[in-house]
Amino acid sequence: MLKARIAVLVSGGGTNLQALIDAQGRGELSHGEIVLVVSGTTGAYALERARRHQIPALAIDRKNCSGGLEFEQKLKAALEDYRIDLIILAGFMTILSPAFIQSYPQRIINVHPALIPTFCGKGFYGLRVHRAALEYGVKVTGATVHYVNEIPDGGRILLQKAVDVLPGDTPERLQRRVMEQAEWVLLPEAAELVSKRIMEEKENEGCGCR
Ligand code: GAR
Repeated sequence: MLKARIAVLVSGGGTNLQALIDAQGRGELSHGEIVLVVSGTTGAYALERARRHQIPALAIDRKNCSGGLEFEQKLKAALEDYRIDLIILAGFMTILSPAFIQSYPQRIINVHPALIPTFCGKGFYGLRVHRAALEYGVKVTGATVHYVNEIPDGGRILLQKAVDVLPGDTPERLQRRVMEQAEWVLLPEAAELVSKRIMEEKENEGCGCR
């Protein structure tokens, strides 16, 4: 069966990438296949995870680019080389330009470590999100997987899962619980959901049904 060709964009440890690779290994990603991992920095451990699983892994070092435009041009060239159908932002800490996003309508998804529309948007990433949630005193937080549009964390929500905040939580402990209970569950589910949709659309286009 033909599968949606997936690129996972990462910046750091890559535990969400690992969740996707593991789901693929268990056969849970039946309509998609991870064919490329791209990092915006050379040192990301996520690249090592990809290589261990024989997935092509590419670092496009933003520091060696003259600016965002050059970075996105290189990224786009790689995505075209690998004929990518679906882009998954898994802890990718760079905000992509509207022009880039518009060239992949409904083809980019992102995992965010809070229940959007809370603790999201510009400046809310990684541990900062959990720090803000604890400072506010929320009793429930969670994770969201959403389509990416021009507004940071503003695209249509695909999946959400709530996670309890517990007494004595630190940002690190809360981050770990949100990952374990929500992100690592939701992201593979969303990847399969969107891959299935993309392949159905391709099939319909191919048979001239629409
Ligand atoms: C994850 O918690 C992800 O949701 C978050 O960064 C972490 C990356 O971890 N992303 C954002 O905050 C984006 N706004 P990972 O590299 O181990 O997957």
